[in-house]
Amino acid sequence: MLNQNVYDEIVAKFEKLFGAKPTAVAYAPGRIEVLGNHTDYNEGFVFSAAIDKGTFFAVSPADDDTVTLVARDIGADGETFTCRLADVKKVESGATWANYPLGTFNWLFDGEPAKAGKGFKAVFGGNIPLGAGLSSSAALEMSTVLALSKIYGIEKDKVTLAKIGQKAEHTFAGCPCGLLDQASSLFGKAGGLVKSDFRSCTFENVNLGSSVAFMMVKSNAKHALVDGAYASRRQACEDAAKHFAKVLRHPVTHLRDVSSAEWILYRAGLDETQAKRAIHPIGEDERVLTGAALLEKGDVKGFGALMFDSHESSRTWFENSCAELDTIVDSAKKIPEVYGARLSGGGFGGSCCLLVDPKAADKIVAAITADYKAAYGDEPTCALIEPSEGAHLV
Ligand code: GLA
Repeated sequence: MLNQNVYDEIVAKFEKLFGAKPTAVAYAPGRIEVLGNHTDYNEGFVFSAAIDKGTFFAVSPADDDTVTLVARDIGADGETFTCRLADVKKVESGATWANYPLGTFNWLFDGEPAKAGKGFKAVFGGNIPLGAGLSSSAALEMSTVLALSKIYGIEKDKVTLAKIGQKAEHTFAGCPCGLLDQASSLFGKAGGLVKSDFRSCTFENVNLGSSVAFMMVKSNAKHALVDGAYASRRQACEDAAKHFAKVLRHPVTHLRDVSSAEWILYRAGLDETQAKRAIHPIGEDERVLTGAALLEKGDVKGFGALMFDSHESSRTWFENSCAELDTIVDSAKKIPEVYGARLSGGGFGGSCCLLVDPKAADKIVAAITADYKAAYGDEPTCALIEPSEGAHLV
């Protein structure tokens, strides 16, 4: 089993704290975003993959109405949060990490957690680096929702489960995210990419072949999506869509419905910031569709070139990159064995995703580390990523 050692540690901690084995354990991976940035909430397209690191959520029903959550990875020896079913609500200060599992539990019961009847006791933890833009929070939500569904005997389809996690992000964690992270965690496949369409909510697996691999390069710029920059980007996209709905003769509900040719013709009605923000997801949708056609022909280098374009669009138009991520991509561009590189996820820090020749991994790591160190004095963290199986009960 993937990450067996983490599973063993979580189960051992559960047994030590609660004196018996957990009734259910679920695993959910983090994700890398490969192409298609900030397109999900614009009802567009994304290529992503579930990664080989994730979160385990071990749980048993409680005898009474108490909810107990133990976060193994917070502090030196973990941190515990408890509340009664009647008091399940957003945690405003202190143990704010509890908002992810608590919000997920809340929405699994449609906002009426008292309906659960009994509480639960859980220990969770994993090996996704926090703040790296690899969706540790979605992994926690998806492992929570699978394990809790099991102990409460609830059956829901994967899209509904993903939306429960998204609602927890919106209302408990305070980030107005799309559905990408939760869907990638659920629909991932070993060795392949997930191609998502966020209008129809359909998720397709695409094989990539073994001649290329992904490398994540984590900058030391912390990424935090709840500080307003993500929300303001989303708002600008929604405002721009309203403008295009007025001036175009076909229906527009989201930027998914607008082409880059239409943006050129009708951008004058937007203010400068809105225009810059809008062209990013519009261009990204077009790049994902072009990329899909290239992958079908086996043209991974062509696909990689689109990843460089995607980063340029982030840097120039969406302004969700930062100096550290730009340094990594500029450095990657100079290495022939790197076919593509771009920021991955929300942006404003976090990680870059590189499409590489795995045989040249050591050379790539050395070159990128040297450039990064020369600029900032510290080293980024580089790791080859294996696209992996999506979330499941263990
Ligand atoms: C974050 C969000 C996702 C998505 C990406 C950007 O990861 O949680 O919903 O919008 O940013 O593509």
